Amino acid sequence: MKQDNRIEIEEDKDLAHTENPTRRTKPPARSFTELKFEDKGPGKDTVTGTAASGVQVYNLCAPRTEKNTKKPLYMSCSGHAEGVYRIRVGEGEVPSSWSVVELPPAFEVFSPSLEERNSSPEFVLGPLKIGKWRYNPGALRFTLESVSHIPRVYGLGEKMGRLDRSGRVWEMWNTDEPEHVPSRDPLYVSIPFAFVGIENRWFGIFVDNPARQYWDVATSNQKELTIDVEDDYLDIYLMEGASPREVLRRYTGLTGVTPLPPIWGLGYHQSRYSYSPDAEVRRVAGEFRKNELPADVIQFDIDYMNGYRIFTWDKEGFPDPPSLIDDLSDSGFKVVTIVDPGVKVDPEYSVYREGLSRGYFCTLPDGTIYQGAVWPGKAVYPDFSRQAVRTWWGDLHRELFKHGVSGIWNDMNEPADFTGDSEYRPDYTVPNELRAATDTGTAVSFARFHNLYSGGMNRATREGFSKHKPETRGFLITRSGYAGVQRNAGVWTGDNCSWWEHLDSAVPMLLSLSISGVSLVGSDTGGFQEDASAQLYARWFCFSAFTPYFRSHSADDTRPHEPWSFGGNVLNITRHYLRLRYSLMPYIYTAFFRTESEGEPVMKPLFFEWPGDERLAEVNNEYMFGPSLLAAPVTTADTLWQHVYLPEGLWYDFWEDILYRGQSDRLVSAPIGKLPLFVRGGSILPHEAPRLHTGVERSGGLFLDVYPDENDRAAGELYCDAEEGWGYRNGEYSLIAFIYQKGKVQVRYENEGFQPPWSTLNVRVHTGGEGCSGQSAHTTSKGGGPVVSETTPSRTRLSEKTADPLRLTSVKLPRPFACEQSEKGRLEIPLTGGEYSIAVDIDARENL
Ligand code: GLC
Repeated sequence: MKQDNRIEIEEDKDLAHTENPTRRTKPPARSFTELKFEDKGPGKDTVTGTAASGVQVYNLCAPRTEKNTKKPLYMSCSGHAEGVYRIRVGEGEVPSSWSVVELPPAFEVFSPSLEERNSSPEFVLGPLKIGKWRYNPGALRFTLESVSHIPRVYGLGEKMGRLDRSGRVWEMWNTDEPEHVPSRDPLYVSIPFAFVGIENRWFGIFVDNPARQYWDVATSNQKELTIDVEDDYLDIYLMEGASPREVLRRYTGLTGVTPLPPIWGLGYHQSRYSYSPDAEVRRVAGEFRKNELPADVIQFDIDYMNGYRIFTWDKEGFPDPPSLIDDLSDSGFKVVTIVDPGVKVDPEYSVYREGLSRGYFCTLPDGTIYQGAVWPGKAVYPDFSRQAVRTWWGDLHRELFKHGVSGIWNDMNEPADFTGDSEYRPDYTVPNELRAATDTGTAVSFARFHNLYSGGMNRATREGFSKHKPETRGFLITRSGYAGVQRNAGVWTGDNCSWWEHLDSAVPMLLSLSISGVSLVGSDTGGFQEDASAQLYARWFCFSAFTPYFRSHSADDTRPHEPWSFGGNVLNITRHYLRLRYSLMPYIYTAFFRTESEGEPVMKPLFFEWPGDERLAEVNNEYMFGPSLLAAPVTTADTLWQHVYLPEGLWYDFWEDILYRGQSDRLVSAPIGKLPLFVRGGSILPHEAPRLHTGVERSGGLFLDVYPDENDRAAGELYCDAEEGWGYRNGEYSLIAFIYQKGKVQVRYENEGFQPPWSTLNVRVHTGGEGCSGQSAHTTSKGGGPVVSETTPSRTRLSEKTADPLRLTSVKLPRPFACEQSEKGRLEIPLTGGEYSIAVDIDARENL
């Protein structure tokens, strides 16, 4: 008898939980009292006042005194911008001076989709319900419940693990965590914002409070998120949108977007703890140029300072900073210097003396200045909750700027404090009793302020740029941050290790940060701690070339981690990917324009782009870089083949022009030196000839590589401006749309405020399968469009042998933008508006 071996199982979310944390975060045990809110009934809502933002706050419930608190608690709820609702719970005035929310001018009264508010303070938004309020002096708890289906939860910024946050408790508490093994949480950045996807509906929840928070994401009840906030007030913003993209737009509408960086910031940065003395810096810069490696920045870690005193120079190692920086500038390098918040306790040191005399450092409750310890030994911490302190700190940057420093790297700003210990302060940060004086004049404890400390520091630096380098956009990277960090700084993911596991976790970590509003993100390429192997370095480098912020950095005790330190093959690979990065600069820069104008992340998980495709819900190691490129980096050792799942549509192998139909699994060859990379059918990629740095004058035109979709159509765009400065905000930019349709190329200026630095356009239409050596696969052609490969193409035969591929003794580098094309499918035109015909080699498609 014929047996049916299939076993049908019901959907079980637990099966999808692959986390194996060894140390689970748990909120401390507390006894909570249920919070009851009086409801005044429909139509009785009163306007309780206008928030600092100018938005009216509606009080849904009369103030009520809880037994265990002397103060009244109230809850209010307001409609915000379209699709955004705020629920405020708290004791009267929220300390608005540290609000990270930029309120949009539009205001919409929140009217009942809160059907249930008459009976209980439950806020219902579609299939989501907020309720089960609990209070314990010093902590509030509430639950976000999904009434129907098991939600998918993404976001929460910089976290270890998969993109889907379900099945774990996450802590929001900025921490200097040097060894982020999978179980470790929290890390340096806290962004209490998450996407909740229920079937095809998308919501966002942002819990705005910089005190410690715990997010229990469906650990015990698969339909519930329980959130604890260690404070007496909180603002919850609920957002709804048709897609994750729309939810993110609403969130960045509240907290701000990543501004367009100067173009040099998107070039390659070389760093080490530390290049010192100055001769070493010159040597490193010289190696780059000698080896013809494109690069824009050398970063100075703490050893440029005099005994780690912030805003000083080591007179012996760096006796003449201006001439060093001038020389570097002559060879095309900008300098980014590290700045830490800890000010050395030294009565001879002017920054310490000045801060002390003005009362700018954080104090203990009895008013004495708190002394912790960081790199310089005993140190005090500026109180960045006050404008006067921020202004002072911003002004101190003059010392760096006047010598020619171009950008700042804010580190240790959780703030780290080495005086912690495993019992008393295992998070090695300053004690919670410290006071933040705040701009309102009401001092609060650090327990309430902690996650915003770095925000104050980053604001101060930004103000320093505006005041002392007003003609520049300012380039700032930070280690620590809170929601809204993107307005002032990009984020790098701190002290990782030269482990494959950390390369692997960097992918979802950067993606999670990106969809939490922070577009300018990157990891320490090669790993910060420990020695990278040649193979790991090569793989990490290929990946980082396709991340928004591209920097190599390593600790003081590792082997050299520069591109040339691992032998000739790695040098060739790194040069290849640097050249590729630089040639794609027009595309990358345009993606950053979209970040500023629309809050669109540069790096995106696939579910974000195709939320309806269930297969993408758990894809953690592939992503979109800009609108058209899909990268699937190899993150495991000794791997020569990579499995990829391609979403719907047509996909072109970037290196070989092989076409794949989407919604399919593929095994692609990925020898060392080859990053699996695909171009979305329907795209037009603008690129240029690579330069040694972004300051080199361009020669030659712009290239447009056209990758038609099944209907023989494609579109792309190009943004260009002065690449530094603020002219673009006054319309001094050009935005050019490119449209290809069945052999016709249209060039249309959407904005014409800047003369593009290229005068010609070299257009190439890809046909899919043209030109490469080797046999073709079985293919089909639909409706005159490109040809689609239905099988694993034979030119990536599994039997393919390269001599010693893993030991990097022989590396064959793939050619970008696919292979040479025939004379057809090419066209040179001026970069002015107009429509042009292009002869596309249809035969090349059909002969396959
Ligand atoms: C911290 C930073 C690291 C830096 C080091 C010395 O560990 O995360 O990047 O190199 O301090 O300044």
